[in-house]
Amino acid sequence: MSKESTIKSGELTTISWEEDGVRIIDQTKLPESLEFITCSTYYDIADAIKKLAIRGAPAIGVAAAMGLALCAKKSTGPTKPTLLSDLKTAYQILLSTRPTAINLKWGLDTIMEVALKYDKVEDIKDAVIQSAINLSREDIAINKRLGGYGSELIKDGEVVMTHCNAGALATVSYGTALGVIRSVKQSGKKISVIATETRPVMQGSRLTAFELVHDDIDVSLIPDTAVGHLMANKMIDKVVVGADRILSTGHVYNKIGTYQVALLANSHKIPFYVAAPMSTFDLKNEISSIIIEERSKDEVIKIGDKRIAPAGVKIFNPAFDLTPPELISGIITERGVVYPPFKENIAALFEAKSNIGN
Ligand code: MRU
Repeated sequence: MSKESTIKSGELTTISWEEDGVRIIDQTKLPESLEFITCSTYYDIADAIKKLAIRGAPAIGVAAAMGLALCAKKSTGPTKPTLLSDLKTAYQILLSTRPTAINLKWGLDTIMEVALKYDKVEDIKDAVIQSAINLSREDIAINKRLGGYGSELIKDGEVVMTHCNAGALATVSYGTALGVIRSVKQSGKKISVIATETRPVMQGSRLTAFELVHDDIDVSLIPDTAVGHLMANKMIDKVVVGADRILSTGHVYNKIGTYQVALLANSHKIPFYVAAPMSTFDLKNEISSIIIEERSKDEVIKIGDKRIAPAGVKIFNPAFDLTPPELISGIITERGVVYPPFKENIAALFEAKSNIGN
């Protein structure tokens, strides 16, 4: 894995396929410095996902797909079965990196399906690499379409709250929830954003605030504990968040804290929207089979290197929570906005080609 630094300028591209490997923004270094890592093996990609150098559901889906592409490129297996065997090993290692976001499995499955279609080793390698690159290009186009639909929900001058980072840094570029914000701005409407810090990993302060300041979008940062106060004082018009997994019933898994933001929004009659691509839907599984990732206790015990809790205290650090459909006003996708009743309308969304709910 090699590293390089660069100065802040231009559009943020979280992940890209390059001649010498997969280039990603090292998000552990933000907001102090914008640094890039080049991953030359799928092990490098798996490490980067595990340590949150790359994170956010759509971004890790593309990273996993590119991990398989690196595996194919480097495989010395002379036959289709040996190449497939290498890919299956890489698939398991990449899949085991993080359990909650469905996009990770979606990216891996999409590439494995492509690999199975061809017979010659060189054809499999070319197709797998090209498909991973295509997924990254489509991610940007999808977010721009989704952003356009979401923009229609926001009025000129409104204040939108978001939680965690569902931005360019959580996707290849542009973002889902922040894609909606970017699209509102591009449409000429005025918009202000309230970003929650998002303890304990601080995706809100380190990443959302960083990328909105980078793009010159009005943003104010608040402690997670201030959400109720702002809502009670009519300082928020709408909430838009991303998602890591959406079930067929409209249950949404997203960054820990999303559920309490949704409860507060509901209580203050503030519309609460979820913005996510079709690849975030999981129509197969139910609540009982979804694993909520639990992360290291150090994320809670320390801020940077400074310890903020006593030795011996017990820690519980779930990284995601579940927001039930009754708290959600609409789900913004690249095919349009889905409204309640979600079970019926999500099923229709998957049958229709475009514009469901619009
Ligand atoms: O732990 P993270 O930073 O990967 O969690 C990210 C989130 O929860 C995002 O809100 C979600 O992935 C949507 S990103 C478009």
